[in-house]
Amino acid sequence: MRQAKISGNIISRLHRNEYVSLSTIESICRVFQCRVDDVLDFKFPRAPVVTQSPESLPRTADIWNRRYLGNKFKLLKFLRGIVDENCSGVETVADIFSGTGAVASAFTDKTVITNDLLYSNYLCNLAWFGSEKVRLPLLENLIAEHNRADDLPANYMTDNFADTYFSKRDCTKIGFVREDVEEKYRLGVINERERAIIVASLIYAMDKIANTCGHYDAWRHGATFERRLILPVLNVPAENNRQNCCFNEDSNELVRRIEADLIYIDPPYNSRQYSDTYHLLENVARWQKPPVHGVARKMNRAGLKSLYCTSKATDAFEDLIQHCDAKYILFSYNNMANKGNARSNARIADEDLFRILNAKGDVEVFAKKYKPFTTGKSDIRGNEERLFLCKVRRRN
Ligand SMILES: C[S@@+](CC[C@H](N)C(=O)[O-])C[C@H]1O[C@@H](n2cnc3c(N)ncnc32)[C@H](O)[C@@H]1O
Repeated sequence: MRQAKISGNIISRLHRNEYVSLSTIESICRVFQCRVDDVLDFKFPRAPVVTQSPESLPRTADIWNRRYLGNKFKLLKFLRGIVDENCSGVETVADIFSGTGAVASAFTDKTVITNDLLYSNYLCNLAWFGSEKVRLPLLENLIAEHNRADDLPANYMTDNFADTYFSKRDCTKIGFVREDVEEKYRLGVINERERAIIVASLIYAMDKIANTCGHYDAWRHGATFERRLILPVLNVPAENNRQNCCFNEDSNELVRRIEADLIYIDPPYNSRQYSDTYHLLENVARWQKPPVHGVARKMNRAGLKSLYCTSKATDAFEDLIQHCDAKYILFSYNNMANKGNARSNARIADEDLFRILNAKGDVEVFAKKYKPFTTGKSDIRGNEERLFLCKVRRRN
């Protein structure tokens, strides 16, 4: 007290955890030669704990807690190792077919750019990597509120999806949460990234209990829907690198406008359109409440089809590579050329891959045996995930 020249009154305030001035904190730090956070700490009020059932206790989720076709969670160490050992001066990484954002998550020590054609993936990527600052305690409270909400009125989800992929009750909950998030965003209660985080939490919750084998081409008839929908609190950072950018467009368009030290390219390999497989997540993310058709209850997906799943894949890939402005291009493509059935065969032939990449730079191939996440019974033997590293000769 004597050395810092502060009164007994201020000491009492400190004891009671009440506010004191910054100059008081400065004086204390000078006396003890310590830093501000040695003297003070913020304790945020936590979301009230729900006690009714163990199921309703707050859950958390990390980026890899998602089932997604072609995700690279298991390859991250291998992939990062290749970059660290073979590439220099990489400060910016663009993951332009980002899906779950798994690969971007291995480069959070750099500036990351993400992009995906699906809006549902864009929102998840914005949640994990967006540059906007978010209020985690507020998000925890909102998610706890959503988990507690019960006895809700029927809505778009109830009317169109009750007792298909989810129980009637959970469909109603999904519709309620989605509507509420939109309303809170419209009123300015939450910012854009906070909105993305709650929608992403909803996507993770749906993925966990969906009455499917991982995709939304069909639902299992006669299911009993034992597990209830619980939104997890996503372990997102409150703040990310301020230079990060997330996009939601065709990569062939985007690549004409961006530059990065490393561009990672992980397009679909076969004829299975992601917009067909994940139509329901996309529908909930977009929340335009379109009419849905057929047993699988799909919305119109025009505009969401990828050329990489069609016979135009080779031309699209050539155009993409020609327009990449990067020091390094890292490209994932498996070795399924003609090994599986017509749907799982790779759309771009090996000779075309090499021709196109060799025209851009010097190419080295790294391969790893890999059991991918598939959605059905497809028995894919000898599957190898291959990474093509292209050291670009001359940047655009
Ligand atoms: C193989 S997955 C990527 C998986 C991702 N690396 C991960 O670890 O989750 C391919 C992704 O490309 C997206 N996609 C397909 N065509 C696209 C295009 N023309 N532009 C941007 N994204 C596209 C799909 O929506 C899908 O999420």
